[in-house]
Amino acid sequence: MAVDLVLKDGIVIVNDSEKVQSVAIDSGKIEGFYKHGEEPEGKRTIDCRGLYILPGLIDMHVHLRDLNQSEKEDYETGTMAAAAGGITTVVDMPNSSPPVLTREVLDQKIASASAKCYVNVGFYAGIGKRFDTSMVPDILGLKVYPHSPLTEGVNYDIKRIKKCVQLANKHDLPLLFHPDSATMDEKPETREEFFLIHSCESEVNSLQAFLDAKVEYEARLHVCHVSCAATARLILEHRAEHTLTAEVTPHHMLLSGENFPHTDGVAKMLPPLRSPYDTQMLAQALCKKCAIDCVGSDHAPHISSEKTTSFLEAASGIPGLETTLPLVLTEVFEGRISWIDFLRCCCSGPAMILGIPSKGILAEGYDADIVVVRKQEWHISGADFYSKAKLTPFEGRRVLAKPVTTIVGGEVVYHEGRFMVGPGIVGRVPIRKV
Ligand code: DOR
Ligand code: ZN
Ligand code: ZN
Repeated sequence: MAVDLVLKDGIVIVNDSEKVQSVAIDSGKIEGFYKHGEEPEGKRTIDCRGLYILPGLIDMHVHLRDLNQSEKEDYETGTMAAAAGGITTVVDMPNSSPPVLTREVLDQKIASASAKCYVNVGFYAGIGKRFDTSMVPDILGLKVYPHSPLTEGVNYDIKRIKKCVQLANKHDLPLLFHPDSATMDEKPETREEFFLIHSCESEVNSLQAFLDAKVEYEARLHVCHVSCAATARLILEHRAEHTLTAEVTPHHMLLSGENFPHTDGVAKMLPPLRSPYDTQMLAQALCKKCAIDCVGSDHAPHISSEKTTSFLEAASGIPGLETTLPLVLTEVFEGRISWIDFLRCCCSGPAMILGIPSKGILAEGYDADIVVVRKQEWHISGADFYSKAKLTPFEGRRVLAKPVTTIVGGEVVYHEGRFMVGPGIVGRVPIRKV
C-alpha cells in the first residue's frame, strides 16, 4: 500500500552527522526511514536531494495579537509567517487584548486560531486576581509578567510570586515568567533610564525571587528570554533541578545593543539587547554549558509607526518567526552550534517543556511536522515577511539556510514560496499529555 508522502533522498541528522535517507509519511505520522531505492511507493513524492529534512521547529514564545490587536498581527498572518519560517508549532502568549485570564477569552482565541491557522497553535494563560481553573485542560503553561502584570492592581511581591508557583505546582503546568523586577511606576524619562530600569541586575533579582519561591513549592519554572551572562550563570548553578528550564532568543544571542544607535524603536525590545559579553556568554550557555533548553523567537509584532517613532515612545518587541530558523541554522552551518544543540533547543526541548511528546523529534511514530531546508546564502529582508511586522534589526543580514517545504501533520502547507492549503485546514491545538 502506498504511503501518503515520501521525502526522497534528503539529508537527515543522525548522531550529530548528516546521512542521506528518505522519510515516509502516512496518516499524519512519520512512517519510517529508508535507504535510496528501498522506499515504499508514495501517493506523492518530493525530491529532497541536497536538502535537509528536519523536525519542524517548535516556537514556544510568540505573540500573535489576535483578538483585538489584529492591526499588528492575526492568527492567519502569524501562522503563515511561522510556516514560511519552518516553524510547525507556536505557542501564543496571553498578554493579548483581551488578555487570556478566563475560559471565555481562551475559547475565543482557540476558535479564531482554528479558523485561520496554517500551523499548530497552543496557548498559555495568565493568572488573574483569581485563577480560572477551567482553562487548565487546554493550556500548555502559565505566563506571568512581573514588570507589567496582566491584571491592574496586582503587584509581583514575594506573596504573589509564591501564589503563582503554588498554582503551577497544583495544576502541573510550567510557570513561564518574564524575568524583570522593574515595577509599573518606574517610567523612564531618558533612554539611559530605560536601560537602567530593565538592567541585568533587575533580570537576575527577578529570577532569584522565583527560585526562592520554588523552594517551598516545587513547580516547573521556565525562564523566558535570558538576556544576561549573570542570569545564565545563576541558571547554571541550579542546573541539577530538572524543574528549571530556560530560553534564549536569537536576537539576544546574536545582537548586542552597542551596534544600534537606538534613536528609533527598531531594535527596542524587553529585555533590551545587552553587551557583546552577554551575547557571547549566552551562546556559550547554549552550546557548552547546557544552561539553555530552548530557543524562542519572542515574535512580538507591532505596526511600523510604533517602531519608527523615538526610542522612548516606541513599542517593545520585534518579529522573529521568519528569522529564527535561518539565523540559528547559519550558526550550525558555520560550526558555532552543533546539530544536537540545534535539535535540542529548537525542536525536542520545547516539546519536552510543553509536554507534547509526539512532537519535536524526527523518528518513526512521531507527528509528521517537518521542515525541508536548503543550504543557501541569502539576506534577510523584512519587506518579504508574511508577518504584518516588517521591521527587523536583522535587516540585510547574511544567512545560510532557507525553509523550502513545511509539512504540518503530514500535509504540505508551504512549498517553494507558495501556500498549498488555505487557512484553518491544517494545524491543531496541541494538548498536554500529563
Ligand atoms: O519586547 C517585548 N514585547 N517584550 C515583552 O515581554 C512583551 C512583548 C510584546 O508583547 O510586545
Ligand atoms: Zn517577555
Ligand atoms: Zn514575549
